[in-house]
Amino acid sequence: MIIMTYLSQRIESFSSDTVFSEMNRLAVKHNAINLGHGFPDFAAPHFLKEAAVRAIQNDVNQYTSVWGNLKLRQSIAHRMLTHYGLSYNPETDISITQGATEAISAAISGLVNPGDEVILFEPYYSTYLPAIKIAGGIPRFYTFYPPDWKIDEERLRSIFSEKTRLILVNTPHNPTGKVLTDQELSLLAGLCYQYDVLAISDEVYENLTFDNRQHRPLSSYPDMYERTITVSNLGKTFEVTGWKIGWTIAPPHLTQAVVKVRQYSTGSGSAPLQEAASIALDSSQQFYTNLLTRYQRNRDYLYEALARSGFKPILPEGTCFLMADFSNFEFEDDVEFCRYLTVEIGVTAIPASTLYHQLPENVKLVRFAFCKKEETLLEAEKRFMRLKLT
Ligand SMILES: Cc1ncc(COP(=O)(O)O)c(C=O)c1O
Repeated sequence: MIIMTYLSQRIESFSSDTVFSEMNRLAVKHNAINLGHGFPDFAAPHFLKEAAVRAIQNDVNQYTSVWGNLKLRQSIAHRMLTHYGLSYNPETDISITQGATEAISAAISGLVNPGDEVILFEPYYSTYLPAIKIAGGIPRFYTFYPPDWKIDEERLRSIFSEKTRLILVNTPHNPTGKVLTDQELSLLAGLCYQYDVLAISDEVYENLTFDNRQHRPLSSYPDMYERTITVSNLGKTFEVTGWKIGWTIAPPHLTQAVVKVRQYSTGSGSAPLQEAASIALDSSQQFYTNLLTRYQRNRDYLYEALARSGFKPILPEGTCFLMADFSNFEFEDDVEFCRYLTVEIGVTAIPASTLYHQLPENVKLVRFAFCKKEETLLEAEKRFMRLKLT
């Protein structure tokens, strides 16, 4: 019998089961505390849930435009202006997507031609690389090394060339928790200008920067407004990751790329949830302050708990993730270690190797998420006590 593959060459190499899925399955089977996935285990804000119910009852239940709910686009434009001093037209410069994931894949499809080079930083958010491959782009990797994850100018400069079409930036960065410095963002802006490169800047953790660090959008740097698509979402700030509401912000010549792709793929998004989301961004400063206080407290707690348990954690500057070195335990391979941690210890983490195209030598890291209830983190620490050091 001839066994044919019906998959296109673009996706043939993709694995249909990911380490993420395996760890989640194991977590459920072994009743482990799941610190692998980056979503909260606590309730979403009441005012947002009420707004969603209201929208459905008011019959905001039919297709919305491909651009998305106008009130939501207006709130996003307002926030960009009041927070960052950046002026965008809600009618032409902002589009709503099915989460940041769709925003990024639509932007890549709309901007990258087969054979174009696309620079990305690794470790990376898991959908970046497949999105580049689906568009026929050639990935060029800049590898971050622990513990400081600094950008080295020469190393970065060496991967830019005439063939570079696009760079994918993520700050604050998942999974390292790094917030790109002013100097690093200026360097990126200079290189984009020099090589005439476009940027997608994934800023979904823009409201989660710790120790008084300020987020600064890449599009605010010289010459970047015209060449950047900024991506953000509702889920990471308002604790509704399952709503999958994301957006792109860019001048019309770039926004077009996203809208054209979405016009003929998704068409539109969820009308009532977008309607509800439109009130969220106008939340008081107190909402953002409380959010940050809670996340910073969780970060500090998990950091200390891991250090007490024999890990060597790296303090993140932003996001809801923390990377920890596990070389004090008798494991060589991070996937094996995560299986052991889930099955025997009862806590789930994500191995760093799944977030690099090639894990650098001597990197022994796993990622934990701390967007969890206090009692969840406390229970995780209790379970860490069972770990044996080598
Ligand atoms: C860096 C980054 N970008 C995008 C996303 C996905 O966002 P969404 O759920 O809105 O698609 C995530 C989710 O974890 C992320 O960490």
